[in-house]
Amino acid sequence: MGKIKVRLKGKAYEIVIRHGLLKTIGVMLRRYACGSDAVVVSNKTIWAIYGRALTTSLKKSGISVHVEFVPDSERAKSFTSLKRLLDHIGAYDERKRLFVIAFGGGVIGDLAGFTAAVYKRGIPYVQVPTTLLAQVDSSIGGKTAIDLSVAKNLVGSFYQPRAVLTDTSILATLSERHFKNGLAEVIKYGVIADRGLFEYIERHYRKILAKDTEALEYIVGRASQIKARVVEKDEFDRTGVRAILNFGHTIGHAIEAAASYSSQYHHGEAIAIGMVVASRIALTLGMMSASTAGRIEALIERVGLPTRLKGIPLSRLERSYLRDKKFVRGKNRLVLPVCIGRVKVIEGVPDAAIKKAIRACMVH
Ligand SMILES: NC(=O)c1ccc[n+]([C@@H]2O[C@H](COP(=O)([O-])OP(=O)(O)OC[C@H]3O[C@@H](n4cnc5c(N)ncnc54)[C@H](O)[C@@H]3O)[C@@H](O)[C@H]2O)c1
Ligand SMILES: [Zn+2]
Repeated sequence: MGKIKVRLKGKAYEIVIRHGLLKTIGVMLRRYACGSDAVVVSNKTIWAIYGRALTTSLKKSGISVHVEFVPDSERAKSFTSLKRLLDHIGAYDERKRLFVIAFGGGVIGDLAGFTAAVYKRGIPYVQVPTTLLAQVDSSIGGKTAIDLSVAKNLVGSFYQPRAVLTDTSILATLSERHFKNGLAEVIKYGVIADRGLFEYIERHYRKILAKDTEALEYIVGRASQIKARVVEKDEFDRTGVRAILNFGHTIGHAIEAAASYSSQYHHGEAIAIGMVVASRIALTLGMMSASTAGRIEALIERVGLPTRLKGIPLSRLERSYLRDKKFVRGKNRLVLPVCIGRVKVIEGVPDAAIKKAIRACMVH
């Protein structure tokens, strides 16, 4: 079992990672003393597979269960869902010791976390992430949010969970595409901070793709640890330390925006290409060797993530990244790798270097 402490000023909590954890989650929650009445926020897809196991475990520990379903898509991160959840929690909340369990992927984690943050100015919540992306990224760090029509995640708050309880066996039913989506973030952690993790994926990518128990626990554990360490240094995204998590994300976000956030490019696929572009920019600027850039690209390709951009014209992509807030007022800011395990934040990268790298990654 892996336990990672997240040490934040005034509060600390644990991330517990274990294959099969769901069976004993009731006992664990008792220990965290969140409350005796759980409002579980989930969707029907996840609940159909794991609802019974969660309910059984909670009830065995004397925790009552009230389930709230939200739509199974980004649409769930809306004012409509938030209001519905708050109304239902309010109606359920008579003399109870309520806490929220976010039981799902990043969409549910963000929405349930924000709901817990604003109900009565904050009630306890616990993250039980069910996608690889949520396990290694969105469940850690306390960023909660819903979307506005102009852009994603614009209404939110920093609100840390009481605990993050991660069962890697839940990933068994996750689709291959969503699994690889999360794997892109794991590769990102390797490049920005952990050469050992990167090399582990190089050696064991077949085991990882086959969702081998040991391999999953290893990559989820290492990735969660890196995210936790970064968040500890920059809880509110103010000191610039969290910026390194944006490796591959500036161009990645531009790709997602240029594709109108359609299923043409999922987040992990867009940042996979973004990481290849960033590596090529670093190469052009003489920050990194060609062999290292080649290694990053080769690993992304080997796990079955895209390294080339198809179906989006260069002009459209440029419009998207120039609109990005990091490019406003003339000076852009990119996270570029120096070697495997270390990145630098570079300001004022020449436009020509960015264009050249993007062009090299385009399929015409
Ligand atoms: N808060 C943060 O720091 C942060 C960081 C990164 C991303 N995010 C947010 O996370 C969201 C994306 O999260 P996601 O990629 O997890 O997508 P998601 O929550 O939409 O889940 C993807 C799909 O997988 C299904 N699913 C989930 N677990 C499953 C399982 N175990 N078996 C079978 N199916 C399962 C879901 O029902 C859904 O259809 C975005 O809204 C993004 O903004 C937040
Ligand atoms: Zn990301």
